[in-house]
Amino acid sequence: MEFREVIETTGACRLYRPDAVPDDVLARVLDAARWAPTGGNRQGVRFLAVRDPVKRKTLRDLYVPLWEQYVARAGARPGAPLPKLIQDADHMARHLDQVPVLLVVCAHLGDLLATDRHLDRLSVVAGGSIYPAVQNVLLAARAEGLGTALTTLLCAVEPQVKELLAIPADVLTAALVPLGHPVHPFPRKLARRPLSEVCFGDSWGEPAFR
Ligand SMILES: Cc1cc2nc3c(=O)[nH]c(=O)nc-3n(C[C@H](O)[C@H](O)[C@H](O)COP(=O)(O)O)c2cc1C
Repeated sequence: MEFREVIETTGACRLYRPDAVPDDVLARVLDAARWAPTGGNRQGVRFLAVRDPVKRKTLRDLYVPLWEQYVARAGARPGAPLPKLIQDADHMARHLDQVPVLLVVCAHLGDLLATDRHLDRLSVVAGGSIYPAVQNVLLAARAEGLGTALTTLLCAVEPQVKELLAIPADVLTAALVPLGHPVHPFPRKLARRPLSEVCFGDSWGEPAFR
């Protein structure tokens, strides 16, 4: 597939077919993670490919209450129709156990360099050693015709997830990525801000291109 098409059509897939993902395809997709940059080239990211039906159901059961809290906080009134994006994400949440592969993204705490941790604001740099690997996986999956969705709600119940999957104490969880064959064709046009809004020139707000 052409590179631009891959990056421009990798949206969050919400509806998955239950068909298994062949091991060789899954291995190719996961292999893409290894090539991502990490701070100091520490390469502390780890992926668990959860295919066991009982564990997938447990992950679903852990995820759904977090999702319901999120929807409630987002202002959806009980009984009122949900916006389409939320409807689709709601379907994904309730059917997570039927997605053939649930990737749990982890990282060794000791390998994360948070060079912004002393600042009086949210620290984000540690995630920079994790999410490029995740994005590589999303793109590699797309190139194989597989859908994915980067999700992070499950991190709120990290202790339960770690216990379920025997994740060591010095390892954190950073994302849950469902992976499988999409029900619908890939999106042709993702809703994204134009380049002029997200890239500036020599000063903030100054156009990068005239
Ligand atoms: C850091 C991050 C966390 C996210 N967490 C969740 C999540 O917990 N659950 C979920 O359904 N989607 C989650 N998403 C998916 C976003 O909702 C999705 O990327 C966004 O709506 C754009 O969707 P699109 O690519 O289909 O346009 C997350 C995305 C990011 C980047």
